[in-house]
Amino acid sequence: MPAQPLVFTDQDLHASNTLGLPARAGLAVLEDESVIPAFCKTLAAGRQQAEAPVFVLGGGSNLVMDARPRHRVLRVALRGIRLWQETADHWIVEAAAGESWHGFVDHCLAQGWPGLENLALIPGTVGAAPVQNIGAYGLELDQRLHSVVVWDLQAGRESTLPPDACGFAYRDSLFKRDGAGRWLIVRVRFLLPKAWTPRLDYPDLRDHPGLRSVGAGGPGAPSPRRIFEAVCDIRRRKLPDPAVLGNAGSFFKNPVVDADQAARLRQRFPDLRVYPQADGRAKLAAGWLIEQAGWKGRRLGPVGMHARQALVLVNHGGAQADDVRALARAVRADVRRLFEVDLEQEPVILD
Ligand code: EPU
Repeated sequence: MPAQPLVFTDQDLHASNTLGLPARAGLAVLEDESVIPAFCKTLAAGRQQAEAPVFVLGGGSNLVMDARPRHRVLRVALRGIRLWQETADHWIVEAAAGESWHGFVDHCLAQGWPGLENLALIPGTVGAAPVQNIGAYGLELDQRLHSVVVWDLQAGRESTLPPDACGFAYRDSLFKRDGAGRWLIVRVRFLLPKAWTPRLDYPDLRDHPGLRSVGAGGPGAPSPRRIFEAVCDIRRRKLPDPAVLGNAGSFFKNPVVDADQAARLRQRFPDLRVYPQADGRAKLAAGWLIEQAGWKGRRLGPVGMHARQALVLVNHGGAQADDVRALARAVRADVRRLFEVDLEQEPVILD
């Protein structure tokens, strides 16, 4: 039976954003790739009639949603994981965009395809992962990416993009820069090396009690599953579970400043957390800046900065998008005043 065309109906989206903000919008759910060509045609016709633009939604875990967005929302619920190709050196694994990211990482390990374990427990979907080039504990998605199968909703065309066509940078990509209405990621392929070696550069991970007793390489090296478990443990300790306390993960990016500014700040603040970058600039730990500015664990109305990780904005209950905006403004202003550093918001806005 041919799949039904997509229909948008007014829905409550409160449970569709991990910050738990109240929202209603027209929603359609994409469960079958075969409807996409017809959907592109209706979009083109709709543009001529000035219909509401479409916003492509994954897990809603990197999102600030307005109560009544002008956008219509397309939730991607495509499913499926398969070994797409096997070469002498790699497993190339393909996952549909609607799969849960964490479930996918877990599944890969269970199949004996390691390489994504440092990215365990990141909320959201596989399709959203390339959008902000997710990264944690010493690994960024682009280092394990084979290609992204994507529809250009404006041109009505499908293409397969290799990593160097995706414009990846720290927490950024072509898909993010162009806005959530242009690209519809349908499948993502990962290049997982058979000659796996553990990535244990990140201090939290290297020093984790579950891994400390074993060497970084050789016969005593920890297994991918053990690294997966250590990452889950670190995240559970620091980061609030969105099912318990609404949040969108890190609310700001770690700012990158030039070497001179980093050196000047270091003189004034000897404890400043600085990560030198390959291009000579320096990345600063935004969580540290926010904590020094007095915002760790502090509230403004129904929202606040988390008590165990100051970079995470949390909804203590009943917050609206404007409460989130007010807190973000206050935090940015205080950090700017103290350090002359501008924080950039990480979650996208659905307005
Ligand atoms: N720090 C503080 N106070 C805080 C928080 C952090 O002083 O309240 C200091 C820590 O002591 C540490 C440094 O800042 O020296 C870095 O902290 P952490 O290891 O927690 O990492 P992060 O830079 O704050 C980034 C990612 C996280 C990711 C971790 C681990 C961004 C915006 N965030 O956070 O991503 O899990 O590294 O790799 O790059 C997310 O995006 O939702 C997320 C959690």
